[in-house]
Amino acid sequence: MTATAIITGAARGIGAATARRLTEDGWKVALLDRDALVESTAAELGANARGYVGDVASADDWERIVAAVREEFGPIDGLVSNALVTDPTPLHEMDVSSWQRQLDVNLTGTFHAVRACLPDLRRARDGRVVVVSSVHASFGLPDVPGYATTKAGLTGLTRQLAVQYGDEVRVNCVVPGPIRTAQWDRLSEEDLRQSARETVLGRLGRPEEVAGVIAFLLGDDASFMTGSTVTVDGGWSITKNSS
Ligand SMILES: NC(=O)c1ccc[n+]([C@@H]2O[C@H](COP(=O)([O-])OP(=O)(O)OC[C@H]3O[C@@H](n4cnc5c(N)ncnc54)[C@H](O)[C@@H]3O)[C@@H](O)[C@H]2O)c1
Repeated sequence: MTATAIITGAARGIGAATARRLTEDGWKVALLDRDALVESTAAELGANARGYVGDVASADDWERIVAAVREEFGPIDGLVSNALVTDPTPLHEMDVSSWQRQLDVNLTGTFHAVRACLPDLRRARDGRVVVVSSVHASFGLPDVPGYATTKAGLTGLTRQLAVQYGDEVRVNCVVPGPIRTAQWDRLSEEDLRQSARETVLGRLGRPEEVAGVIAFLLGDDASFMTGSTVTVDGGWSITKNSS
């Protein structure tokens, strides 16, 4: 396949693993991140990858970057909306600017991404979008009111987009469970072991294990899938401790 995809939040973690996997599958990839590290992450992937520094919450950045990607690689066929911010703080201690920033990046960032790429995605009635949500969309855990709200919003937005754009653009959602990325760096070894025990598989996932599912949803093998929500959580969401 010679097609072009934009991946947001691609400097590291699941986004970077997805960019790597898509280049292996023959895609040309544009890696977007607010962190300039994205340029070296892209450089490691060779000539079919390019890094772009920008903020997914900025419509101006989207306009600038989509124009640059078109110039570099041609029209956009795929979009992976993956960037996130989170502030692990209970609602009564969270200031409204932090709440708003989580909405702006996680939820409105996807709005801007889809709006900016849509003319390209629709042009050949073969566009593909993957939205990265989280198990927090469906399960209540303490201290993540902003993050969980945005992730639940993204599963709803996925369905809206799928219905709206029908056979022009397939839109699917990935719901990761605990995946060992920089998001987990602040946790102690014991907390990491505890989180691993809370999966059926007894371990945290690797970014590549989510990237493979994203690549599948973006690819031709998922040609009859749209509006789906695919869980990649090592069984985290189907097990309970109860006697
Ligand atoms: N790691 C997990 O356990 C886990 C679990 C469930 C869901 N997820 C989801 O997977 C996705 C990727 O998570 P990850 O763990 O790889 O995160 P990560 O922290 O490794 O990478 C996130 C990237 O997003 C970038 N980013 C943040 N704000 C941005 C902005 N405004 N504009 C552009 N880029 C921005 C960061 O710079 C960073 O490079 C997220 O949507 C996250 O919610 C992750």
